[in-house]
Amino acid sequence: MHKIFPRVRRVSSLANGRVELLGNQYPTDSVTNSHYADFTHISSLSPLVSPFKNFDELSFPQDHPGRAVTDSYYVNKDLMLRTHTSAHEVEVFRRGEDKWLLTADVYRRDEIDGSHYPVFHQMEGARIFSADAAGMKEVEERTIVIEDVPHVSATNPSQPTHDPLYSELVAQNLKLSLNSLMLTLFGGAGVGSGAPLRVRWIEAYFPFTSPSFEVEVFFRGKWLEILGSGVVRQATLDTANVSNKIGWAFGLGLERIAMILYSIPDIRLFWSTDERFISQFKDKQITTFQPYSKYPSCFKDVSFWTQQDVALHENDFCDVVRDVAGDLVEDVKRASGSLCVFPAMTPLQIDRFVHPKSNRTSLCYRINYRSMDRSLSNEEANELQSRVVSQLKEQFGVEIR
Ligand code: PHE
Repeated sequence: MHKIFPRVRRVSSLANGRVELLGNQYPTDSVTNSHYADFTHISSLSPLVSPFKNFDELSFPQDHPGRAVTDSYYVNKDLMLRTHTSAHEVEVFRRGEDKWLLTADVYRRDEIDGSHYPVFHQMEGARIFSADAAGMKEVEERTIVIEDVPHVSATNPSQPTHDPLYSELVAQNLKLSLNSLMLTLFGGAGVGSGAPLRVRWIEAYFPFTSPSFEVEVFFRGKWLEILGSGVVRQATLDTANVSNKIGWAFGLGLERIAMILYSIPDIRLFWSTDERFISQFKDKQITTFQPYSKYPSCFKDVSFWTQQDVALHENDFCDVVRDVAGDLVEDVKRASGSLCVFPAMTPLQIDRFVHPKSNRTSLCYRINYRSMDRSLSNEEANELQSRVVSQLKEQFGVEIR
């Protein structure tokens, strides 16, 4: 046993079982770039997959909310845009790859704000080992114990078919590998303001991993989730015909990494063709993005009664707004129907007013129109707003208040 835990380094533990990793406290010597060099890199796979591949093969339950047409983009019932790079796990494991990275575009219907966009990029990474003493020796050679939240616990258990010790080792190896990746990515001089980077591990849940973890990075006053990870569910490996293996996988949000690395304030900038944006990245040496002049916001409110029998999901509303205004919309917020009190509310708070007599629901949204590249005139915002209103009437039969 003792050989399995060769060195112990502490990482500060916070209350509520969270851990903060500060660059200078972590051994950077343990992993070099060559450690990553032998991962097979896969890209260019089609974004169109079957829901079976995106969900069922990964043990998603039938009633998982991600399957809903309000959350994912379907071409028809048998074809959809992948919502995550994990959709390719089975096929890659089936090819016999046991150390791989896969980069791809992924698609989700989501809220509108500075860190969400309906298309973004992920990198999936996985490493599997022989589920036997020889495989575990390989894990052991690369494992340093980090004393933080338990890797495996009652609320984040190892899988029934796994030897708990193997599961523990694989989870440790996962954390070590990702912490090293994080330090390689963010640990360099000059990232952001120069203040120490704050990274935390949180217990998580994914249908296709157990135990599962998320990693968040503190950026511009809030915690930004940058990856999900965990010990791969055995069912995934069984489906891929590699039942004799055990291992880990992670999925990393690439835009968010770039936002943190270069202090890019808004995810929509990645789609800008503006020279003032693009030219900053021609010289790869840049460390901090220089925002170009800010243009004013233009707020427009819309409140309406929905039809009793036509459900209008928040993501439907956001899609209408995006279809009309494209990248000229910065965010959308929602307030309770009767009063439309905006200041205290959080983005897209679920809050609706149901009329006691007519039983109809009133919704109220505030749309913030703003261009990244120029000043938007009030007339232009009004024009966009009236197109949003007519689309809402046409597509969902709403009655404007
Ligand atoms: N696919 C997950 C997501 O997009 C991330 C993930 C990947 C989690 C691999 C666990 C393992 O949120």
